[in-house]
Amino acid sequence: MSVRFPDEPGFAGRFAPMRLEGEIRGLEVTQGEVPASLRGTFYRVGADPAWPPFVARDFYFNADGMVAMFRFENGYCDFRSRYVRTPRFAAEREARRSLFGAYRNPYTDDPSVAGLSRGLANTNVYWHGGRLLASKEDSAPVQIDPDTLDTVGEFTWDGDLSSQTATAHPKIDPRDGSLVFFGYMAKGEATRDIAYYEADATGRIVHEAWFEAPYSSMVHDWAVTENFVVFPIIPLTASLERLKAGGPLYVWDGSEDVYLGVVPRRGTGVRWYRGTNRFASHIMNAFDDGRYVHIDTPVGAKSAFPWFPDITGAPFDPEQASAQLSRWTIDTQGPPDLGDEATAFAEQRLTDCSGEFPRTDDRWATKGYRFGVINLTDIPGQRPDDGLPGFRWLASIDPVTGAMRTRFAGRDSTVQEAIFVPPEADTPNGHGYVLQLVDRHATGTTDLLILDAQQIDAPPVATLKIPIRMPGGLHGNWVTPQQLATRAG
Ligand SMILES: [Fe+2]
Repeated sequence: MSVRFPDEPGFAGRFAPMRLEGEIRGLEVTQGEVPASLRGTFYRVGADPAWPPFVARDFYFNADGMVAMFRFENGYCDFRSRYVRTPRFAAEREARRSLFGAYRNPYTDDPSVAGLSRGLANTNVYWHGGRLLASKEDSAPVQIDPDTLDTVGEFTWDGDLSSQTATAHPKIDPRDGSLVFFGYMAKGEATRDIAYYEADATGRIVHEAWFEAPYSSMVHDWAVTENFVVFPIIPLTASLERLKAGGPLYVWDGSEDVYLGVVPRRGTGVRWYRGTNRFASHIMNAFDDGRYVHIDTPVGAKSAFPWFPDITGAPFDPEQASAQLSRWTIDTQGPPDLGDEATAFAEQRLTDCSGEFPRTDDRWATKGYRFGVINLTDIPGQRPDDGLPGFRWLASIDPVTGAMRTRFAGRDSTVQEAIFVPPEADTPNGHGYVLQLVDRHATGTTDLLILDAQQIDAPPVATLKIPIRMPGGLHGNWVTPQQLATRAG
């Protein structure tokens, strides 16, 4: 029986599996110098299928998590990549084939893996409470050794995680180091249950509250401020009946409203603010003044995910899927429902450029802020002549003035999620470095750029060359040597 991936767009070109675990000590610096003061590790995770799927039209959300690390010290950068040994990965490695079927559809699995965790740990990798955790929103996170990337095992907050799931987008409150997180579909696929948690800086769960969403949907990212958490219910709707019939977990339903569920920090009651149909996924940052909550997120007319069908059968439309960074404002003392066709929260567009993967200077997470970065697919009036789709520019933005700087990745090049890296000394908001992987499609290699965060449009401080194509990344984070020194057992 040979290993052969399907002849489908989801497994060709930039999506072709790499399946390579490895190590390079001392990445080549092709331009500039790595600052000697840059000390720490950039961890990121991507999705890279270890085995060909046995379902048609599979997509990378359903692929195994491959964690990569870039450790900076004394001007050197060491690279390592390794698959997360989830129970699913281990079972399929033993069988030398896929045993799990369609994305988040246990009804399509090989009977031999019934009851085994379907988690792939492919969406985010973050540090909290002395642990490095790789996560996907359908399961508990998996603890990873921060030096070797060996898998330690599933992490359930010492058994205190009562939800079946934990978000891949937890937030760390810079005031006290709390991990603020949640699980959706907390009682199983397509359920409406949401569990909201806070863990203290040591990683112990100290708050838990449960409630039900108006309907079951993908709750991929959320907003956390000093005084509130907000759950966006966006109409990528889920259905257990469809799942049992072998269909997709999610479809885009343009007839359904958006709801923003507002809960006071460490509180229990939720108020749902209703709005007209639209799509949003990632949050750049959010903050409040005690009454008004502001949430900065790219907003589009329809879902950005072509692999989740439109409930009407309409074909995917990239124009309608393009999203522009916008600010949602909720009056937490205002009425949550203003009647038909009225939206109970305000929306103000911050830029006409289309983009996603917003990030901020996490020292200002949950607070009023002046710096964010975002990857752009489109700048009005600019069109690269190579016709390559995808994220072609990095932008930095001051959400107060709207001032933007943009950096074109170059011909035949696309960008992965950027992260902000603070220098070791205290600096103002947005003063530090931005690290970003750039896919060089003509050569099948990847560059890691170190940029001055205040001048992302200037030549990079340094460019490091990874002599392979890094599989499509999702999210990552910077971990300092001081954090690594707090490593738990
Ligand atoms: Fe995400």
